[in-house]
Amino acid sequence: MTAATDAPGVADTKSLTLILTEASELCDGVRALRLESADGATLPSFTPGSHLVLDCGTTPQGTPRRNSYSMTGPELEPDHYSVSVQLDRGGRGGSRWIHGLELGTYIRASRPRSVFAPVLTARHHLLIAGGIGVTPILSHARAAVQWGRSFTVLYVWRGPDAAHLDELRELCGSQLHVFASRRELWAHLGPALLEQPLGTHLYTCGPSAMIDDVEGAAQAAGWPSARIHYERFGGVDLDPGQPFVVALRGSGKEFEVPSGTSVLETLEQHGVTIPNLCRQGVCGECRIPVADGSVAHRDLYLTDEEKSYGTSMMACVSRADGSRLELDL
Ligand code: FES
Repeated sequence: MTAATDAPGVADTKSLTLILTEASELCDGVRALRLESADGATLPSFTPGSHLVLDCGTTPQGTPRRNSYSMTGPELEPDHYSVSVQLDRGGRGGSRWIHGLELGTYIRASRPRSVFAPVLTARHHLLIAGGIGVTPILSHARAAVQWGRSFTVLYVWRGPDAAHLDELRELCGSQLHVFASRRELWAHLGPALLEQPLGTHLYTCGPSAMIDDVEGAAQAAGWPSARIHYERFGGVDLDPGQPFVVALRGSGKEFEVPSGTSVLETLEQHGVTIPNLCRQGVCGECRIPVADGSVAHRDLYLTDEEKSYGTSMMACVSRADGSRLELDL
């Protein structure tokens, strides 16, 4: 067996030690993993649309690399978790690391985290997937079938193969609509947004540009933002930003945050521990309170409303919009 993390049995209560028991090529560049508990126990149940944050080795600079992946398998007392990972050759290396894993490798993972759950009071669920963004949508569709909820899936992809298409066809039957181009999707989506029953909630996952367009089209069709839900996959591509000073109100200490270094990394280098998981602005774990100064928010976790308050920030990606930030730490 290959040890990508410590031996089983040493995980803290917030993490899981999993073992890779199966891997298959779903379609070109997409690898599906079956992960079981290293001690053979039943794994924690999760909410549809949840994700796991996996430890994916370290960067060339020695920084831990963690990626979030949506869970595609059954959610109630599962004997395994499933994730499907698209190879991103231009990325930070996490997906390459996953694609190179051998069976029997131990992997440290977070417990399932839910930021894209179905609204149980919704009258209908309109699920829109683009490319590998199908993974949380599959989880939603599986639960909708299991619990008898009304739903429709729109799935668009490019290229010869689509991940999880056979599984979706079997699950959804006539509730699945597939599109081979964005243009086809838009032709269907425009009228569909106007025809949904009152009380429908919309969920979308895919490339950022597609999510922005779906959200814009829904808003233009009069959908309130409370009924539009999205999950962006992967982190955000960030420029290194300008240096600034971060001050800690509790201790009075001040540190310079250099260009290309995050607030999280700066605080860690000075012995200040901030909980964190994804380090990509996705999971919400590294949220810290801001006492003074303007924040350049660069995460995918806080809502626009929360960002507008300016009272908290994600230390892993967000920076000062100016020369100084004071933190309530
Ligand atoms: S560590 Fe996940 S948002 Fe910062």
